[in-house]
Amino acid sequence: MPIDTLLLAWVLLAATIGLAYFVFASFLFGAGYQPTPPAAVREMLRLSELSPRDTLYDLGAGTGAIVFRAARTYRARVVAVEVEPLRVGILRLRRALGPFRDLVSIRWGNLFDLDFRPATVVTAFLWPAAMARLRPKLERELSPGSRVVSHCHRVPGWTPEAYDSATDVYLYRWPGARDPGGSDDPPTGGT
Ligand SMILES: C[S@@+](CC[C@H](N)C(=O)[O-])C[C@H]1O[C@@H](n2cnc3c(N)ncnc32)[C@H](O)[C@@H]1O
Repeated sequence: MPIDTLLLAWVLLAATIGLAYFVFASFLFGAGYQPTPPAAVREMLRLSELSPRDTLYDLGAGTGAIVFRAARTYRARVVAVEVEPLRVGILRLRRALGPFRDLVSIRWGNLFDLDFRPATVVTAFLWPAAMARLRPKLERELSPGSRVVSHCHRVPGWTPEAYDSATDVYLYRWPGARDPGGSDDPPTGGT
């Protein structure tokens, strides 16, 4: 086999392994990498009624689709927690180059080790098993009035206050979401 064909094969193999690592490795912790679509980010922040008085925790912040919009558009304080180190590097770079670095704090680690008590808004786009694991932690640590906004997956056993079917976004308000007479189902008709 010619040397340049061999080299190309190695480069393609390395790129495939790198991409697979970047997207899938964090599945072990709670979700792979897929940025929240811009329309869903906008809806999550709108539904949460985010304001400069809020502290938003983005659980599994990826490369910052939610984080930097929350700081730029709403001037909210943002805590971004991310387990995958390359994405943490990207978050830190974006923070360093952006105008609202004082509003954004970045934690490299497992979201299940983070204390959620300072959060007034929590955003998530995580795998269903991670949402189930998250629920008791949210119930222990959230303050009354906090909002939880999730893309794609519900908090199992909680009743959403609103659901936007166009972007697949659920809004929960704590502690009302745990209403024992409520239902897992979103309100009919969406928002
Ligand atoms: C579907 S992506 C969502 C990214 C981001 N929230 C966004 O809106 O673009 C999920 C992210 O959660 C991260 N993640 C998964 N489990 C985690 C854990 N236990 N602790 C911290 N981050 C986690 C993944 O590395 C991935 O970047």
